[in-house]
Amino acid sequence: MLPDPALVVLVGPSGAGKSTWAASRYRSEEIVSSDALRGVVGSGPSDLDASADAFDLLERIVAARLGRGLTTVVDTLGLDDSRRTAWLAAARAAHLPAVVMRFDTPPELCRERNRQRDRPVPAQVLAGQLRKAGVTSTALDLEGWDAVLRITDWGRVPESAPQRPLGLTTPSAAERRSSQGLRFVLQVGRFPWGEDPAAWLTAIARAADDAGFAGLALMDHLIQIPQVGRAWEPIPEPWVTLGLLAGLDTRLELGTLVTPVTFRPPGITAKAAATLDAVTGGRAFVGLGAGWWEREHAAYGVPFPPAGQRLDRVEVAIETMRALWAPGTKAAAELPETTSYPRPAHDIPIILGGAGERTLRIGARLADAVNVRTEQVDRALAAVQGTDTTVSVLDLPIVGRDRDDTWTRVERLRGSTKASTYAERTHAGTPAEQRDRYGRLAERGVDAVFLAISDLDGPDDVERLSPLLT
Ligand code: UTP
Ligand code: MG
Repeated sequence: MLPDPALVVLVGPSGAGKSTWAASRYRSEEIVSSDALRGVVGSGPSDLDASADAFDLLERIVAARLGRGLTTVVDTLGLDDSRRTAWLAAARAAHLPAVVMRFDTPPELCRERNRQRDRPVPAQVLAGQLRKAGVTSTALDLEGWDAVLRITDWGRVPESAPQRPLGLTTPSAAERRSSQGLRFVLQVGRFPWGEDPAAWLTAIARAADDAGFAGLALMDHLIQIPQVGRAWEPIPEPWVTLGLLAGLDTRLELGTLVTPVTFRPPGITAKAAATLDAVTGGRAFVGLGAGWWEREHAAYGVPFPPAGQRLDRVEVAIETMRALWAPGTKAAAELPETTSYPRPAHDIPIILGGAGERTLRIGARLADAVNVRTEQVDRALAAVQGTDTTVSVLDLPIVGRDRDDTWTRVERLRGSTKASTYAERTHAGTPAEQRDRYGRLAERGVDAVFLAISDLDGPDDVERLSPLLT
């Protein structure tokens, strides 16, 4: 996988396949081509009289894009040493990785392709390029590129994400793991449901089931949080909403990510979860957190004690819920009795959200899983080492159908954030790129991914995620 964003300099003689390769994996805006610019300022791509003007423009475009931290593919012969090292220096100044793609296409194939062209390069000129390419290939290794990658036999078939096999019977949710070994749960935190909330929710849940998600999690907040939307956008009470989803014909596991312990006495959450588990035949889970947003507590008259006390309540909440779900009615945790019916249909997993040191310690001791952001995975893995607690992540990527779609989404969603910064923060990329990232998380020991996308507007957006789940 190539670094991205990055400076990508193509090196190879005419007919080597440089432009074809670039077009197959980059957006046209990302490719700066001397031939194309000859066509812009001259009579056409092979107007050599326009070379000086074309290269003037090329240098300015390369500098402007790199300065913004944007991927730049330089499509020239790449055989001019001083130009190449200047581009490398510009990438360094912009703190971007810089790689060379060296096209080692067999000379005979270059000649053959050249002959087929409308305006072939004169044979003498091509011979000169082939000679120069041989000399350049040794120079490249000494120039300081982050990588010099050779292309000898890239196929004509563009990279495409593997498809989900069709015609399989729906596996039960518990068996749903990707080939990388991850369980994916769709996390829904925005509800652009228009005039028909129930229809929208139903369509999202069915699409998640069809796409291969193992479960669906709802955010639990009293007011929409500023990170996700505006205060006047709907954010439904999750346990009621999960009741609606429980009535659908899906195999999805259902729960929250996360329910703050401050919102309800833990027994009340335990009651809701046990009921959900009973009516779904054992598909409920509970995401739990300490709560963090003072404003929603104040607005609803809910006490918001200091952090230390909230974490105390997390410990008590987990013990209380487990006691209420367990057989028997004897005194447990802080309760005089634990009379709670219906009983849940299975052991309801508790996932503790948060990456604070004490939160992770509590999670390792009492929870089934701790849930953190991808940057916090190492700390979480260290905290649960030697326990049965697993690690899941909440991931909020931008996922485009292809590269062009990805960048269209970045441009639409980035607000006033610099495009390259936003793309990096949201791991913007194609399904293939996301899978690459998830593969690495799985290798490190992550068990589950709560996947949230900020542009989840309808079922099509859920379907767009299905290549990640195979
Ligand atoms: P390109 O036009 O991609 O070569 O391919 P290039 O390296 O950029 O060449 P210059 O430097 O601009 O002159 C040359 C021809 O080879 C075909 C392309 O369709 C094009 O007609 N080609 C390329 C293939 O048939 N198969 C390939 O895998 C690559
Ligand atoms: Mg070309």
